Amino acid sequence: MRYRTNYCGEISTAEINKEVSICGWVHNRRDLGGLIFLEIRDRTGLVQVVVNPDAAVFNVAERARKEYVVCVSGTVQNRPEGTVNNNIPTGTIEIQVQDLEILNTTVPLPFYPDDNQVASEEVRLKYRYLDLRRSKMQENLLMRAKVNKIMRDYLTDNNFLEIETPILTKATPEGARDYLVPSRVNPGNFYALPQSPQLFKQLLMVSGFDRYYQIVRCFRDEDLRADRQPEFSQIDLEMSFVEERDVMQIIEQMVTRLFKEAKDIELPSPFPHMTYADAVQKYGIDRPDLRNPLVLVDIELPMFAEAGRTAAICAPQAATKFTRKTLDQLTDFAKKHGAATIAYIKVNDVDKGREGLQSSLLKNIEDDQNIADLIAKTGAKTGDIIFIGAGNTKLVNESLAALRSKLGTELELITDTWHPLWVTDFPMFEQEDGRWISMHHPFTSPKVTNIEEFKNTDPASMLSRSYDLVVNGTEFGSGSVRIADQELQSAVFDLLGISADQADEKFGFLLQALKSGCPPHGGMALGIDRMVMWLCGTSSIRDVTAFPKTQSASCLMTEAPSDVNAEQLQELGIKKLQTTNTQAKSDVLT
Ligand code: AMO
Repeated sequence: MRYRTNYCGEISTAEINKEVSICGWVHNRRDLGGLIFLEIRDRTGLVQVVVNPDAAVFNVAERARKEYVVCVSGTVQNRPEGTVNNNIPTGTIEIQVQDLEILNTTVPLPFYPDDNQVASEEVRLKYRYLDLRRSKMQENLLMRAKVNKIMRDYLTDNNFLEIETPILTKATPEGARDYLVPSRVNPGNFYALPQSPQLFKQLLMVSGFDRYYQIVRCFRDEDLRADRQPEFSQIDLEMSFVEERDVMQIIEQMVTRLFKEAKDIELPSPFPHMTYADAVQKYGIDRPDLRNPLVLVDIELPMFAEAGRTAAICAPQAATKFTRKTLDQLTDFAKKHGAATIAYIKVNDVDKGREGLQSSLLKNIEDDQNIADLIAKTGAKTGDIIFIGAGNTKLVNESLAALRSKLGTELELITDTWHPLWVTDFPMFEQEDGRWISMHHPFTSPKVTNIEEFKNTDPASMLSRSYDLVVNGTEFGSGSVRIADQELQSAVFDLLGISADQADEKFGFLLQALKSGCPPHGGMALGIDRMVMWLCGTSSIRDVTAFPKTQSASCLMTEAPSDVNAEQLQELGIKKLQTTNTQAKSDVLT
C-alpha cells in the first residue's frame, strides 16, 4: 500500500486527472443511497472523495464512519457543475476513488471536530488529542510553529547560536516560586526547574559565545491568569559588547519581521519609546494599551490635599451611554483595585461651570476656580463624564489603569490597530514589606557609572538599564543590560538583603565568572505564548498551548500532578506530611 502522495488540503486543479493517495480521518460521510461522499481531513484541510456504487471498495466506504483513519487513492477530477463548495480551498475538485483502506476505527467520541457546538473546555482538555483535531486548534499550533521558525531564521541570519541550557538546575530568581525536583542520588537535595535561563546565558557570554538564543521552556510556580501558564516558552537571547539600543534593535527587527511574515501585519517603525515614569503618569501602568486613547491627568482638589495622587480620566460622551447603575458598577470595579476614592462628575453643560455639572463631589469643592481648572485640565466637553481617583499613588494608578481599560472597551474606543511600545528607565528597586526587591531581576545593571555612585544613590530613585516591549497592553518581553562587574553585583545582592554567605552559596559560580573576564553584555526574552495569542487573535494562553494546564496547574488529561508510590518517596528520602489529595480536577478556567 502506498500511503501518502499529497496532503488533502493541498490538492488543486493542478492535479486534475492525476492519481493521488491521501491519508487522514473521515471528517464526514454522506450516503446518498447509491453514492457515498467522504470528506477526508489531515492537518492541511479537507478534500472530498466520491465512491460510486460500482467501485470495488464501495462496501469499505459503507463501513467507514466519522473519525476512522483511512488511506484513499484515486483520480482527481473537477466537481460537476453546481456542486462546487466555495467554503473550502479544495471545493472545486474531488477524488474519484480507486482504493480505500480503513487503517483504524474509533469508539464513539465525546465530541467531533466538525461539531457546531464546541464542547466545554473541561471536556476539551480531558480529550485534548481530539480537541487538537479541530481546525481552530490546528491553525493555532501551525501558527506557533511558524512563529518559532521565523524567529529561528531571523536569529540564525543574524549570527546567533542556539545553545541549550539545563532544565535540572539551581534556583534562578525571576520573582516566582520554584518547581523543585528531588535528587535520588543526593538524598535531601533538590534541583529547581529554571524560571528562565538567565544565569546560564550570562555565563555563555563569559565563555565568548557572543550571540546566544534559545527557544526554551520556563517554569514558574505563580498565580495563573489568562496569559500565564506554569510552564511556558521564551525566545531568549543574550549578546556581548552591547548597550540597550543594540538589543532593542535586534528585537524590534525580529518582531517586525515576525508580524509581517506570520500575518502580513505592518508594525509601525520605529517603535516609540516611553519612560516608565511617563507611562505610569499618563496611563497608571507600565504596559499601556495605546490603542485606547484615554489618558490620566493630574488634578488638584483641596479635599484630596493629603492624597498621594489625584488624577482624572475624561470619558468622552459617556453621559448618554452610561446609566446610573453602570456608573456605580464602574466605580465599584475601579475601587476593587484599591484607590481610597473613585468618584465621577457628569458634564451636562460645560459652558455653565458649576451649574452645568452633576456630582456628589461638588458640595466639597468650594472654589469655582478648582472647577474651572478641572475642566481645563481634562478638556471635558458637554456630555462627557470625568472619573476621579484619589489616595495612595500606587493604588490610584492601579484603579485608574483598570478603569481606563474598562472604559475603553465599554465606550468602544479601542481601535483595531497595532501599538508596539518600548518602556525604558524602570526603577532599579521597589519596596516590598519594608525591604528592597529588584524590579526586573538582580542581574540587571543599575544606571550608574561606578560602584561609588551606586553606593551614594538613594535606591528609591535609582533607575535600571532595563526595557520592556509592550504590544497593545501586553508585556511581550523584558530585558536589560547586565551587571558585568563582580563588586557591583555583590553590592546589589547586599542591598537586596542577600548576605555575602548567601550570595556565595546561591550565586558563587556567577560571582566567580564575573571576575573571570566577563564582557559587557545584555539581552532579552520574549514570551512566545503571548505573541502567538495575539497572532491567533485569542485571549486564552491555553488556545495556543498543545497540552496546557488549568488554573490549579493540573493537566486534566494526564491528571498530573499525581500521587507517587511509597517506594519512590522512600528512595528519594521524602516523607509526606499529609496524604490528602488537594488537586482540583475540574477547576476554574479563566
Ligand atoms: P521575564 O520574567 O520578564 O524576563 O519574562 C519574559 C517574558 O516571558 C513571558 N512570561 C510568561 N508567559 C507565560 N506564562 C508565564 N507564567 C510567564 N512569565 C513570563 C512574558 C515576559 O515578558 N530572564 C528575563 C529576561 C531577560 O532579562 O533577558 C525574564 O525571564 O512575555
